[in-house]
Amino acid sequence: MKIDIEQLSLTYHARKLKEDDIQSIYQLYQDNPLYFQYCPPEASEEMVRDDMHALPEGKTEKDKYFVGYYDQDELIAVMDLIADYPTAGIAFIGFFMLAEDRQGKGTGSALVNELCTYLKKSGAAQIQLAWAKGNPQAEHFWLKNGFVKVKETKSNAADCVILAEKKLRGDDPL
Ligand SMILES: CC(C)(COP(=O)(O)OP(=O)(O)OC[C@H]1O[C@@H](n2cnc3c(N)ncnc32)[C@H](O)[C@@H]1OP(=O)(O)O)[C@@H](O)C(=O)NCCC(=O)NCCS
Repeated sequence: MKIDIEQLSLTYHARKLKEDDIQSIYQLYQDNPLYFQYCPPEASEEMVRDDMHALPEGKTEKDKYFVGYYDQDELIAVMDLIADYPTAGIAFIGFFMLAEDRQGKGTGSALVNELCTYLKKSGAAQIQLAWAKGNPQAEHFWLKNGFVKVKETKSNAADCVILAEKKLRGDDPL
């Protein structure tokens, strides 16, 4: 699966994040303390750098898309996408965070909706992701956006996470 980052949103400018962006990403992380309560430690620049390059086992840089969504020059969201993980045809969202002052207005849902539309058109079968068990904001958001719980498991981010999926084919309408 090849993802064309520029096509991920028609509303905002999506592009690959680079080392130069670390400071603005860190600011966005810092404004979201609830997330790091469930996925410690606290945000740091080092953590941003690690996230920028982190790969699940068996994957390489070519499958990784660490994406920034911009409104003009302002970074409004960060998404980590892994293509064909855990298996071919599945896109895995490793991380998704919206700037705090943009939350609660449907923007996160709109971006996820655009992502689903793009991936479906590109032939992806499914999206998977995980949230830290008990994080009310994350759970509410992903269930509201049509993801269904698959199982409880362990991840690098937290000891207990809920793995969830959204099918993009068959009789699962977007
Ligand atoms: C999750 C997130 C991306 C949602 O973005 P958003 O633009 O606010 O999303 P929307 O406005 O489309 O929807 C937010 C929903 O969550 C609800 N919500 C917000 N904070 C909440 C909380 N603490 N507990 C429960 N629900 C919460 C809102 O009420 C809204 O639901 P509603 O439409 O049924 O009222 C954003 O809150 C965020 O970046 N959080 C921190 C990072 C994170 O948790 N990412 C997901 C895990 S990978």
